[in-house]
Amino acid sequence: MSIAPTETGNKPVSKGQFISFEGLDGAGKTTQLALLQRWLEQQRISYVLTREPGGTPLGSELRHLLFGRSDLAISPLAEAFLFQADRAQHFADVIVPAIEAGKLVISDRCYDSSIAYQGAAQGVGIELVEQLSLIATAGRSPDLTILLDLAPSQVHVRTHDETRGEHSRFDAESLSFHQRLREAFLALAQNHPERIKVIDATQTPEQIHHQIIALIQALRA
Ligand SMILES: Nc1ncnc2c1ncn2[C@@H]1O[C@H](COP(=O)(O)OP(=O)(O)O)[C@@H](O)[C@H]1O
Ligand SMILES: [Mg+2]
Repeated sequence: MSIAPTETGNKPVSKGQFISFEGLDGAGKTTQLALLQRWLEQQRISYVLTREPGGTPLGSELRHLLFGRSDLAISPLAEAFLFQADRAQHFADVIVPAIEAGKLVISDRCYDSSIAYQGAAQGVGIELVEQLSLIATAGRSPDLTILLDLAPSQVHVRTHDETRGEHSRFDAESLSFHQRLREAFLALAQNHPERIKVIDATQTPEQIHHQIIALIQALRA
């Protein structure tokens, strides 16, 4: 395996690493990814920033189907498969090649979202969606998952900010749906404490940013 083109601290990184960001819509993922991107550039760390769904040309089409077509009936199980189709293409074409090229790969959401949204909150089944996810990723998991944890009441306030760009199909869902989601994410974090790190998303963006940097430095040390 080749040495990565960049390094943090004094240790060369011999292979790429994969980090996912998770949390409810409005938890602050996009905000943190922008701060992290600036930091990675300052540190001259070679990275790939991507997202699910939508990290490939096929994924962009699927994202439009999932979020832009409220006229289409999509059952929870069909929705689960559409997200997995996005993921299979994303891992094959973007994530795995970048990891193998020694890059730091950062994705705005990955399969924990599928497990929480379709598996738990929509009732498809946590174990089934986990199995489907690992088929889509060919058994790969993120090296680190950062879960931005926020109460649904706070999410509601943030996502009803009219200045915000894209709205997902979940925005109109009830607080209890978001409560199920939050609990599902927290249960995943409890079951995977080495991989999933929970950050209190009520803190200021700068405070959260510093905690994320510390986690990434620990991962790369
Ligand atoms: N730590 C924070 N404290 C208060 N508001 C925040 C914080 N982080 C983000 N926001 C605001 O909350 C809204 C949603 O943030 P965003 O980063 O788009 O979340 P996500 O990508 O998880 O949906 C935006 O209006 C953003 O400015
Ligand atoms: Mg976002």
